[in-house]
Amino acid sequence: MCGIAGYIGSDNLSQHPLEVVLEGLSRLEYRGYDSSGVAVNTKKEIAIRKKVGRVENLRREIEKNPVPDGVCAIGHTRWATHGKPTDANAHPHCSQTNNVAIVHNGIVENHQELRNELIALGHTFRSETDSEVIAHLLGIALDECADLPRAMAKTVARLEGSYAIVAIAPSQPQMIVAARRNSPLVVGLGEGENFLGSDVAAFVGYTRYAMAIDQDRIVTVFRDRVEVTDFAGNRVEPTVYEVDWNVDAALHDGYDTFMEKEIHEQPQAVAETLRGRLTADGHLKLDELRIGEEELRSIDKIIVVACGSAAYAGHVAKYAIEHWCRIPVEVELAHEFRYRDSIVNAKTLVVAISQSGETMDTLMAVRHAAEQGARVLAIVNVFGSTIAREADAVLYTHAGPEVAVASTKAFSAQITAAYLLGLYLAELRGNKFSDEVAAYLEELGKMPQRIRKVLEQEDRVKALAAQMSDVDSVLFLGRHVGFPIALEGALKLKELAYIHAEGFAAGELKHGPIALIEKDLPVFVIVPTPRRPLLHAKVVSNVSEVQARGARVVVIAEEGDDAIDDSVKNVIRVPQSTPTLMMPLVTVVPLQIFACELAKLKGYDVDKPRNLAKAVTVE
Ligand code: F6R
Repeated sequence: MCGIAGYIGSDNLSQHPLEVVLEGLSRLEYRGYDSSGVAVNTKKEIAIRKKVGRVENLRREIEKNPVPDGVCAIGHTRWATHGKPTDANAHPHCSQTNNVAIVHNGIVENHQELRNELIALGHTFRSETDSEVIAHLLGIALDECADLPRAMAKTVARLEGSYAIVAIAPSQPQMIVAARRNSPLVVGLGEGENFLGSDVAAFVGYTRYAMAIDQDRIVTVFRDRVEVTDFAGNRVEPTVYEVDWNVDAALHDGYDTFMEKEIHEQPQAVAETLRGRLTADGHLKLDELRIGEEELRSIDKIIVVACGSAAYAGHVAKYAIEHWCRIPVEVELAHEFRYRDSIVNAKTLVVAISQSGETMDTLMAVRHAAEQGARVLAIVNVFGSTIAREADAVLYTHAGPEVAVASTKAFSAQITAAYLLGLYLAELRGNKFSDEVAAYLEELGKMPQRIRKVLEQEDRVKALAAQMSDVDSVLFLGRHVGFPIALEGALKLKELAYIHAEGFAAGELKHGPIALIEKDLPVFVIVPTPRRPLLHAKVVSNVSEVQARGARVVVIAEEGDDAIDDSVKNVIRVPQSTPTLMMPLVTVVPLQIFACELAKLKGYDVDKPRNLAKAVTVE
């Protein structure tokens, strides 16, 4: 949550720092968008502009009230945790004497105690935020030691909680100083200029070279070098890497919204996740593996930890991994896992699924698992993210940057990666022969084309959304791997169109939810392939049950499934002969299109739904 951008460049005073930071904020806006602000270091003073609402409001404010030229700048786009979204609560925040300005992503847990202490010293606060205490403490520390990196070290020693803090001071215009604990921060490396960002989107338009910043680090960024130390001041050597996507990947590409673009990018996201997975001798490989093969053979339980859509991808993983590997798989919401007495030991493999790799609940679950002696494997989209770095093994999803807040292509890529993991373990542990694995991989290789066929029915799905634009409740039913997809369909509709939506296991219908069915209530039913007659027959009878009660049924069924006859008016077809376990990759697509279109018809911003943020970096 919250996006941070920073820039330091040529010594010539120029407007450039402001422009670079504003552009970075626009690209980071998906991380939080209730207010934004910038601070420019003019050497004499810090000029601050901040405004509630989107970055465009901030730009308008700067047009009305221009910022003087500067040597470096920092900026922030906010997702409120402490204090309402207002101009005053927007970052940057200044110290009592305006000798420093900071932006902060995270939560200062002991802020009240620190605020009381500062008030007793005569400080006055200009906002309700927890972050402002950081500026005040840093201002005091800078007065004491006249060295911004040392002042930062003194300040973070007083903080409890999570933070990425970026600071500038008129007395030290040659540097930007940042500190990181449990909130994402990355440095972009240019020629005679350097950048800071919550993620690489902040600067990928300028450079593709990035420096990963580990936990508990202080970073001093000059225009021509970067120094990294631990909190005790010891120098550390950071990792530099090349970002594997460019700025075009983060643009709309002709679609009205990022969400529509990303829905259409799913064939590519799946294909990229599958690409280059075989070793020269034909075995599956992961991206990073720091767990011995013997250890992987000895695991007796898998626990998937994740949140939201990523957890639903984990539900799909359970069906596939249990079927292929015969290992029990539990799926646990990351925030519940940590606070429960879950049974985890050295024979447990914890699989953390996260698009951002920064979700705090999932990160804490990863650490909790590691403390219990479990090995952790991460399925992550963002390269070098915290979860990827802390895990013992990583399988990257290679979906490219996902900008829309609601997950679509990352979800499909997570499911694809979960299949790969299942097949990898099945082969390694001897549950499947390599020719059987090869046959599954061949089917997986056909999934991008099958998804394209579903995307061709976009207009039909949009027409359905137009017919239902006035509904205030929608139900989704699915069985087996259709169940998590029903949950995902409902989540998409809630978060984008702000209407009540529930997903149920179809078998649960008669145990309660059927009481909700009334005339004209839209009910989406995901019908399994007729090649699995037992599953299929049960869901077909669920269709009849809800139809008999007057519901407006929309069925997602395989081509050629003639049990779904003319009595069902609304049928979306998915390609024939998709393996049962791989059906989620095609059945989810109409549900995503439906939610997106319904929200657009209601006039909502589908890329930035209200109250949400892309990376939930607070618990
Ligand atoms: C829903 C959605 C969220 C995320 C969840 C986890 O559309 O995007 O439910 O799936 O917040 O985020 P990551 O995958 O970044 O850990």
